[in-house]
Amino acid sequence: MAATSISASIVLLSFFIVSSAILAAADKHGVRGIHDRGRKKTTHLQFYFQELSSGPNMSVVRVAQTNTTDATPASFGAVSVADNPLTEGPELSSKLVGRVQGMYAAASQEQFTLLLALNFVFTEGKYNGSVLTMVGRNPVFESVREVPVLGGTGYFRLARGYALLRTYRMDQSTGLVTVGYNVTHERGIHLAEKKTTQLHFYFQEISAGPNPSVVLVAKANTTDASPSSFGSVFVADNPLTEGPELTSKPVGRAQGMYAAASQEEFATMMSINFVLTEGEYNGSVLTMLGRNPIAQHVREMPIIGGSGYFRLAWGYAVLRTHKLDPAAGLVTVEYNVTVIHP
Ligand SMILES: *[C@@H]1O[C@H](CO)[C@@H](O)[C@H](O)[C@H]1NC(C)=O
Ligand SMILES: *[C@@H]1O[C@H](CO)[C@@H](O)[C@H](O)[C@H]1NC(C)=O
Ligand SMILES: *[C@@H]1O[C@H](CO)[C@@H](O)[C@H](O)[C@H]1NC(C)=O
Ligand SMILES: *[C@@H]1O[C@H](CO)[C@@H](O)[C@H](O)[C@H]1NC(C)=O
Ligand SMILES: *[C@@H]1O[C@H](CO)[C@@H](O)[C@H](O)[C@H]1NC(C)=O
Ligand SMILES: *[C@@H]1O[C@H](CO)[C@@H](O)[C@H](O)[C@H]1NC(C)=O
Ligand SMILES: *[C@@H]1O[C@H](CO)[C@@H](O)[C@H](O)[C@H]1NC(C)=O
Repeated sequence: MAATSISASIVLLSFFIVSSAILAAADKHGVRGIHDRGRKKTTHLQFYFQELSSGPNMSVVRVAQTNTTDATPASFGAVSVADNPLTEGPELSSKLVGRVQGMYAAASQEQFTLLLALNFVFTEGKYNGSVLTMVGRNPVFESVREVPVLGGTGYFRLARGYALLRTYRMDQSTGLVTVGYNVTHERGIHLAEKKTTQLHFYFQEISAGPNPSVVLVAKANTTDASPSSFGSVFVADNPLTEGPELTSKPVGRAQGMYAAASQEEFATMMSINFVLTEGEYNGSVLTMLGRNPIAQHVREMPIIGGSGYFRLAWGYAVLRTHKLDPAAGLVTVEYNVTVIHP
């Protein structure tokens, strides 16, 4: 995905931009490599999230629960994977502007409240292919909810912000829930003025043999019939190596979870902690959460935080599949990670 070059003078005229305000001043250094980020901008986006929980166009599937989940009023313990349409207006028939792909877990014993881990992938205009990542708490029956925007890719690379959610419709008979999203996010950072760290390593995922590093832990009753394995959830503890060979020097582990969260292509919601074990990074962690469309040549995911050496850091990872060896059950992915320190 190519980085979009943004000039502060461009008037942000697009289908869901409501307004844009310039907060801070000029770029003295002609920042290279990233975007032309001369100024900080606060931008507002507005769109509607459409969730269909029944019928032929069902967009959300239950993948796990416990034996008491359905007896509790708040469905405590239910875990779902979604690939819901995003529309410009509140009607389901309104113009499609993207998809939201990710997971939710009902995580309250008292009122229906979800832990959300969602990637919003836009398909229109200059946002086409760009992703916003949100993780937060959604107490569904409150009139307005707020969820943090922790990162993004493409146009939204290094974004930070928040979304206000208001339920527009909850139709029991059709299973359609429509939620209006107002997203406020800030873009613009002088990388040239920041301390950055570049990391390069290979991620080795072993799915076959006696010691697989990734295991399937949950799926929906529709997953096996889905061409994109929609709803399958994996937990991984994959080796990270210095070079592309599995026998190359180990430099850490990639521990976390991924869910196949697209109904059309093989694209996952990945939530991964990179635990590094070498040199000055030994014991430090980088946390990545994003959308990984595995079949694309080059992908990008946000680094949303870290610990130890990477405390309060953020950034982004650019990755490319280096080798796919189905016979050995081995996938090797090259990662370049740019970390920005506070
Ligand atoms: C399902 O989606 C298709 C294509 O968007 C649409 O033509 C059809 O009317 C939808 N069906 C229902 C029941 O919503
Ligand atoms: C649910 O499973 C747990 C542990 O497997 C068991 O102790 C408990 O009795 C079960 N509860 C119900 C309501 O079936
Ligand atoms: C969005 O990008 C995809 C892939 O690059 C392209 O096929 C599609 O036509 C684009 N859509 C719009 C509305 O620009
Ligand atoms: C979203 O913004 C629109 C227009 O600016 C406003 O009418 C609506 O109340 C806002 N919704 C929330 C949840 O803030
Ligand atoms: C899957 O489970 C749901 C309830 O969670 C049920 O309504 C549906 O009929 C099941 N579908 C299949 C294909 O078994
Ligand atoms: C990393 O730290 C662990 C625990 O402190 C230590 O046992 C290990 O030897 C260190 N590894 C390297 C390569 O420094
Ligand atoms: C990572 O960076 C190196 C050095 O700049 C470059 O050769 C390589 O193609 C990059 N790989 C990815 C996946 O971006």
